[in-house]
Amino acid sequence: MSKTALITGVTGQDGAYLAEYLLKKDYIVHGIKRRSSLFNTERIDHLYQDPHVDKRDFILHYGDLTDSMNVTKVIQECQPDEIYNLAAMSHVKVSFDTPEYTANADGLGTLRILEAVRLLGLTGKTRIYQASTSELYGLVQEVPQTEKTPFYPRSPYGVAKLYAYWITINYREAYGMHASNGILFNHESPIRGETFVTRKISRAMARIALGMQECLFMGNLSSRRDWGHAKDYIKAMHLILQQDKPDDYVIATGVTTSIREFILKTFAAAGMEIAFSGEKEEEVGKIVAFDEKLFAEKVGEEYKNHIRSRIANNPVVVRVDRNYYRPTEVDLLIGDSTKARTRLGWAPEFDLNGLIEDMISSDIHLMKKEAHIKNGGFRTLNYFE
Ligand code: NAP
Ligand code: GDD
Repeated sequence: MSKTALITGVTGQDGAYLAEYLLKKDYIVHGIKRRSSLFNTERIDHLYQDPHVDKRDFILHYGDLTDSMNVTKVIQECQPDEIYNLAAMSHVKVSFDTPEYTANADGLGTLRILEAVRLLGLTGKTRIYQASTSELYGLVQEVPQTEKTPFYPRSPYGVAKLYAYWITINYREAYGMHASNGILFNHESPIRGETFVTRKISRAMARIALGMQECLFMGNLSSRRDWGHAKDYIKAMHLILQQDKPDDYVIATGVTTSIREFILKTFAAAGMEIAFSGEKEEEVGKIVAFDEKLFAEKVGEEYKNHIRSRIANNPVVVRVDRNYYRPTEVDLLIGDSTKARTRLGWAPEFDLNGLIEDMISSDIHLMKKEAHIKNGGFRTLNYFE
């Protein structure tokens, strides 16, 4: 018989990949989506099944993790074998602007799910995955970070997730629940939110290459992250819930890269060589050369003149804007996922170059489409003109 899963945050990056993955494994998948003033299901539209026609195995419920009754009702309705709690206000910088909301959704939201499962008498049936994060390590106390490294969160987001991490363990120990934390390091993809750093860079690179944008404004270029591909990481989530015993696992690649290096690699993947000079807010990145053959292959022959002209006349493509700095920064993340690799048999398929290739080919394609729409398509740019 098919298993039933409930995914909170199903409209997000990980939720979308996980929903597709579980459907392919014959699960019945329920997802919680928020009401929004515009459609917010773009990442999962390809999974849509018409309720009037099909017998559905992908079912969406309106909901919000800040609403206990809603969370309880949805869990009661779907009686899930597995809950993947991926919903969160997940942007670290934004959590400094909305700290109370972040605590409510990311911290108490997890408690609401655990408590609903307990009160509904589903403790013996429902397994729970909590989306914990390498942001817990914050001001890192050890390099690389393992399941045993002490936490030192550095943002309202990190602190909210610390509560969620411990309440998950507490319910496991207090009530014997199958509740586990995946401590996932940064993972990205072509459907990563546009304001996270990798997507911002890959998207801006495509726009600069196509002549749609002049410059990429960045915050701290020196912080380092351990970046993997979301497609690999959602498989770890599933594996964690297939174990006989609940437990907590670090999921990471074990390779760390600075933001500056990520920019160099992203432009290089499309044939453009960047050189950085200057310090702090005066630092700039200039295009200094380009590989015409690679550029033509990745971006297009017809855009080569534009890049030649940028190199000759206006080579600065990266600048620093201190508005993107965070009040407290997480400088270095690098994970040791030995436990997951040995006990779960998990290993990533993508390395950083593979991830970048996947992201840039998607963004170049998307930005070409966007340029096409703006140059004569239907999109209205100014409503009162
Ligand atoms: P994401 O793309 O930002 O998706 C977050 C999802 O949560 C979206 O579906 C969002 O809905 C939903 N959401 C936000 N607030 C909600 C609320 N109050 N009630 C219900 N749903 C809400 O994040 P992601 O990258 O997929 O990450 C998934 C989870 O893993 C998050 O909990 C994140 O904190 C955690 N995590 C991510 C990473 C990473 O590198 N990606 C690493 C470690 C941990 P809308 O679509 O309506 O906004
Ligand atoms: N977003 C962003 N925008 N980050 C920038 C920028 C910029 O313009 N310039 C520099 N950065 C730096 C940030 O200061 C940070 O050091 C790093 O790039 C990564 O930022 P994000 O991509 O926003 O990710 P994050 O590491 O803060 O958080 C992500 O990963 C966590 C796991 O470690 C999110 O997905 C979290 O939800 C997740 O828990």
